Amino acid sequence: MPDTYRNYINGEWREKGSLGTFENINPADHGDIVGIFPRSGKPEAEAAIAAAKAAYWEWSHMPAVKRADIVKHAGDLLRARKEDLARLMTRKMGKILQETRGDVQEGIDTAYLAAGEGRRMYGDTAPSELPDKFCISFRMPIGVAGIITPWNFPVAIPTWKIFPALVCGNTVVFKPASDTPATATKLVEILAEAGVPKGVVNLVHGGGREVGMAIVEHPDVRVVSFTGSSDVGRVIGEKCGRSLKRLSLELGGKNGQIVMDDANLDLALEGALWGAFGTTGQRCTATSRIIIHEKVYREFTDRLVEMATKLKIGNGLDESVQMGPCINAGQRESVHSYVEIGKNEDRAKMLCGGQFATDGDLKKGTFYKPTVFADCHTKMRIAQEEIFGPVVALIPVKSFDEAIEVINDSAYGLSSSIYTRDVNRAMRAVRDIEAGITYINGPTIGAEVTLPFGGVKDTGNGHREASHTVLDTFTEWKSVYIDYSGKLQKAQIDVE
Ligand code: UN1
Repeated sequence: MPDTYRNYINGEWREKGSLGTFENINPADHGDIVGIFPRSGKPEAEAAIAAAKAAYWEWSHMPAVKRADIVKHAGDLLRARKEDLARLMTRKMGKILQETRGDVQEGIDTAYLAAGEGRRMYGDTAPSELPDKFCISFRMPIGVAGIITPWNFPVAIPTWKIFPALVCGNTVVFKPASDTPATATKLVEILAEAGVPKGVVNLVHGGGREVGMAIVEHPDVRVVSFTGSSDVGRVIGEKCGRSLKRLSLELGGKNGQIVMDDANLDLALEGALWGAFGTTGQRCTATSRIIIHEKVYREFTDRLVEMATKLKIGNGLDESVQMGPCINAGQRESVHSYVEIGKNEDRAKMLCGGQFATDGDLKKGTFYKPTVFADCHTKMRIAQEEIFGPVVALIPVKSFDEAIEVINDSAYGLSSSIYTRDVNRAMRAVRDIEAGITYINGPTIGAEVTLPFGGVKDTGNGHREASHTVLDTFTEWKSVYIDYSGKLQKAQIDVE
């Protein structure tokens, strides 16, 4: 019997969803039903928002250090349960164990970083223009935060948002992706166990259209943080714009790795394989374009194809497996439709993959073969649009300048990388690549929580997660002028 999961509203686990239930299946084995979840709608979202609103006063008045202690405790519990959570996550979304352990670790790191902010969260003091006057600013919480998260990082991404939101003094309504509701539930259990008071964190399972939109549109939700596709991000952006709501968007990517003629090719290949096919290409940071200097293009291409073809695909619970399935049948179809587009685009050559992987037990899941398209040019759809699957486009270039032009020829700007041994080129790439993240001699994936995470152009709306920069999403500034002169002093007027 599959486990039954519940919503968590106002400190109570509630079974019912007004729209019935939904099943969550293992993408590596469709016979394995991971759990049954309430399919919620507007009434559950509204109940959760009301609970979060009611809890806000007390929570926001608790000293930040105390809130941070609770988040730190949640980090300790995540650490203690890392292996169990990783196994559950692999079962429900297919990433291999090594990666799901990394996903939980990112949550632990985030807990400790966010907890530290409980003792920092610095404001400013500034000299006043006037005598006997003191100027300070500090960060205030905003209110109820709506947190809407994707399925590809089921612990890391919710923690990027929820932990700092809480330390800053906000209360939370959390809608996880309906492909990964089980680990979200475990995370909320951990928060409750760590001491989060009732109403401060609320969990509502269900679809984006029903629950997600109810959260985004509700006037009592004052800040929304969303990670997902640029298309959905635009819709959310319009809605939040109309109600002047704070919004952090972390959206798509079409991340490029440049390989120069002086690169350490072994290293560049290892990075490319990991960046393109790790998480089955289902990361916003995945390497989906490799821009290669013509002098090393042939060798790089031949070797990458050989390595991609040898990748062991399968159920991620088997430690020897290197690549898991696509998250669901719809996603695999979408990947395949891009492969069909690529095959029909002029010049591109598909050198491997391009098919469902169905040998033996693989037919039980939504597996897809690692796919490499060579000889692409930058204007092709497979070189421009986010595929979110194990498909990579190789683009030959003649020079460093052309490589920079090609990498920047994208609507997106999340992550990027360059492999070169020339420090001058590396530094120029750091300066000139239009992206929120640039790696030198590393793949496009693997951001650490201490630096800002996010991108330029259609990747987002200028906010950054992680680091201390996430505080800008979850706080408002208050400026305070303290006049101890005992008389009316007029700024800009009383000064000569
Ligand atoms: C994502 O791709 O949605 O940098 C997040 C990385 C991870 C986070 C990825 N630390 O690839």
